[in-house]
Parts: sequence; C-alpha cells; structure tokens
Amino acid sequence: MDGKVFIGGGGQDYGDKQGLTLKYANRHGLIAGATGTGKTVTLQILAEGFSKAGVPVFLSDVKGDLSGLAAAGSETFKLHQAFTDRATQIGFDNYAYESFPVTFWDLFGDQGHPVRTTVSEMGPLLLARLMELTEAQEGVLNIAFRLADQKGLPLLDLKDLQSLLVWLGENRGEIALRYGNVSVHSIGAIQRRLLVLENQGASKLFGEPALDLMDIMHVGADGRGQINVLAADKLMGAPRLYATFLLWLLSELFEELPEVGDPDKPKLVFFFDEAHLLFDGAPKALVDKVEQVARLIRSKGVGVYFVTQNPDDIPEDILGQLGNRVQHALRAFTARDRKALKMASETYRPNPRFDTEAAIREVGVGEAVTSMLMKKGVPGIVERTLIRPPSSQLGPLDPSERRAVMAASPMAGKYDQLNDRRSAYEILKERADSAAAAAQEAEAKEEEMSVAEREFSAARRYSGTRVRRSSSRTLRVRADDTFGEAMTKMVVKELSGTTGRRIVRGVLGGLFKGR
Ligand SMILES: Nc1ncnc2c1ncn2[C@@H]1O[C@H](COP(=O)(O)OP(=O)(O)OP(=O)(O)O)[C@@H](O)[C@H]1O
Ligand SMILES: [Mg+2]
Repeated sequence: MDGKVFIGGGGQDYGDKQGLTLKYANRHGLIAGATGTGKTVTLQILAEGFSKAGVPVFLSDVKGDLSGLAAAGSETFKLHQAFTDRATQIGFDNYAYESFPVTFWDLFGDQGHPVRTTVSEMGPLLLARLMELTEAQEGVLNIAFRLADQKGLPLLDLKDLQSLLVWLGENRGEIALRYGNVSVHSIGAIQRRLLVLENQGASKLFGEPALDLMDIMHVGADGRGQINVLAADKLMGAPRLYATFLLWLLSELFEELPEVGDPDKPKLVFFFDEAHLLFDGAPKALVDKVEQVARLIRSKGVGVYFVTQNPDDIPEDILGQLGNRVQHALRAFTARDRKALKMASETYRPNPRFDTEAAIREVGVGEAVTSMLMKKGVPGIVERTLIRPPSSQLGPLDPSERRAVMAASPMAGKYDQLNDRRSAYEILKERADSAAAAAQEAEAKEEEMSVAEREFSAARRYSGTRVRRSSSRTLRVRADDTFGEAMTKMVVKELSGTTGRRIVRGVLGGLFKGR
C-alpha cells in the first residue's frame, strides 16, 4: 500500500486491499453512518494510518474513546480474537498492536494542554457568530475592534473585551460622531452574551500563550505524524463554542500556511466529528464561509474530514467537495431516512457487483461502502469494505495514563501556565485609576482649605435637594460609642451618593475642628 493509507478489504471476500491515496488526501472526506456502526473506529484507523505515513492529525474526541490512540492494543482485550480474525480475512498480514504519538488538548485545560486564542485573533465575525449577535450588535462589535486597534488596546481575553465595551458605553457620544450611532442597547446585549459565553467556560479559551499552529503539525524523529486529540466531551455542552473554535482553527491554518498546490501527502489532516453542529441553524453566510475555507485550504495541504451520522447533515456545496468517503450503515426507518439513503447512494460511482443503496443499508458494524479518489482525482468505483481493526487501544485511556502522557509532553511547559500580560483591561483600568487619583487629589486640596472656607463651602453646597434621606428610623447609639462616632454614623446614614459624602466631609470637618 505504497502512497496509501490502508483502510480495509473489499472485493468478493474482502480480500482486495483498499486504501486512501495520500496524494488526494487533501481533497477532503466524509465518514458517515448511524450510531454504533463503526465511525469512531474508522476515524481511529485513519489517524493511525496518517500518523504512520508522516502526516500529523488533529481530531476532536467527542466521547473520550479516541484517547486510546496513545496506547497499544492488547492480547488480553476481549476483542483480540475478533480483531485478529478480521485482520486475517482482509489479508492484513503484518497486523500488530502499537501505540501512537498523541498530544492531548482541551479548551478547558483539564483533559489536555490548554488551547487558547486571543479575542483579536478570533475576530469580530466569528465572535459575533459565537455570541449569536444581530447585525446591529455585530456592527457595534466591529466598531469596538476598530477602536481597540486605533487606541493600541490589545484584545487578548474576555475581560479585555468587557472593559472595552464599558469604555465604549462611556464614550458613546464622542464615538458616535466618527463611527455612527452606538446604541446602549446593543452594548448591553453584547455584554449579556459575553456573560453567557463566560458561563460556558469560554473565558478559558481566550488568552495567552495562544496556540502556535506549528505545535499541531509536528512530525517526530521516527517519521510519525503527531496525533492531536482535542477533548470534546465537555465541549459538546457548548456546541456553538465547539463549532466556532474548530472553524477558527481552520481559518487560522488557511491564513498561516503557505500554498503547496497538490503535495505528495497532506501537511495535516483535520477530523471534524459531530460535524452537524457546525451547520445546525447556521446562517447562509457562515455556510458559505465554511465552503470557501474548505475549498481553499486544500492548496495549503490540509485535508478536512467531516464525521457525522447522516450525509445530509452537511450542506450540498460542502458535501460535493468531500472526495474520499466511508459510508457506514444508514437506517431506513422513516421516509426521511429513505430519502437520505437514496440521495447518499446516488452520489457514488456504481459497482456492477452490488446495489449501492442496498449495500449502505446492509453493511455490518465495522464495514462500509467506500469510495476513494483515484488517478487524477476521479472518484473510484464504490466498494463494500471491511474496515481494518485498530492497532492502538479500543476505548479510552484511564485518567492516570492520560496524565502521564500529558506530563511527558513538551507542550506542558509551553501552554499549561496562563500569561496575563498588560492588555485592554489593564490599560483601561490604569487610566480609570489615574483619573480617580486626580479627582482625589482635587478633593484633598479642598480639605486643606481653612476652616472658615470649608464651613462656608459646606453651607453653600448643602442645598439638600440632591440628598436622599434615610427612613425615619432613629439610630441607636451604643453606650461605648463616642459622641463623634455616633454622630458620624448618623450623618453618614442620612446622606448617600457622592454628593452626600462630600457634604459629610464638609460638615464633619467643621464640627470636629470646633471641638
Ligand atoms: N474496524 C473495526 N474493527 C473491529 N471492530 C470494529 C470496527 N469498527 C467498529 N467495530 C466495533 O463496533 C463498535 C462500535 O463502533 P464505533 O464506536 O466506531 O461506532 P460509532 O459509529 O462511532 O458509534 P457512535 O455513533 O455511537 O459514536 C466498536 O466498539 C467495535 O467493537
Ligand atoms: Mg463514535
């Protein structure tokens, strides 16, 4: 299987080796099938194959079971015999257990090294999508980003964005003159959305050190590609965060990587599990963007593989770009199922040996209808393929094994510690602090005034109209309170707000001086 990733056996008795041609692996792919039909294992063996071929892999691990890639399979495992039989049947002669080089990542920094990006790298477009902003709100977010740029306010984490919004609200009047109306409403709405994001744990995603893309494109000294496993179990609870993050990663790759045309093998393959989450309720503009990124990223040598239950979860324009396909069994219970099945089968080049539609319905677990790109990128005739068994462990690592892999990784020293450098939040806070200090200084000056002046100004300012009165309830004066303290409490109780406090200072100043 030179120049190919071995995927299993096709033909009459599953004896014809089937492979995914590395040269066309950047023309994307699809792994589909109902629950329990073998999608995850297919993803696992593809990751193994790419790694062995020297291609780094990035995949999301939705149920945690792909962490098993880091450990070798075992002869004591309950499916050992089944795996060996399957290997024999498909002529997989050198089948052996083996572990793979894995890096664990986790947006929440728990199950892997933290993956971070900065607010400005994410950009207003994706953030607006992440927060589900309306057009008007997105407009305000755009102004905020532009202003941050012009004023030299780095937007790294969510608190930077939060304080920028506060600042934007305070200086709305001035800003409106240059940028158009910035409504308090929109600012408020964005702030509330930010809170929701924060509650979903998104604050962990934003900050530094931001992910260096080179760290997910590593090929080891032994020639094997690194397999990057993103913990996505918890992330599934925040599907929009999940989808936006992966989309961000793709667009970063697109922007950062050089053109390579059609390389002998990809620079990276990217598996997008639960891909329907990306498209559920997505606006047309976003689908178009995904379509565009998928089309363009090919020439950067990145292959994207969507993993989903039903191929019709994927918009047509994108589906049409997925050249390499592994279609596990689809059910045909409902009318919608049957329609989807029919549509799925019509996209394949028929094989005279069997009916595609029937095959998609009938294939067993760990078996699939496959079609891979061949010479000149033409889709191959559809095959019924028995997928090869995995060499790494089926099922998750236990937590201590995971810890050990993480501790041994060079990424531990690089990303585990958050670096909260001076950015918009700190800068705006410093400004506010120095403004407050100036105000305080002015007040202190006032205090240096002579008693006469003070009494005069106190009397003058004590108009009473802006001062709120406390309730009629009288203050109980404790026996051990000095008269002064009791007096202070009473007056302070009676006056509130800035104006009130000023007056207190004026009134008491005169009072104590006089004793
Ligand atoms: N290629 C294979 N070789 C050997 N066994 C397999 C293979 N594929 C699937 N199996 C068996 O089928 C089981 C279910 O497969 P898998 O977990 O990949 O299904 P799935 O489609 O990902 O399901 P879900 O939608 O629930 O995530 C595996 O645990 C394994 O026992
Ligand atoms: Mg699965």
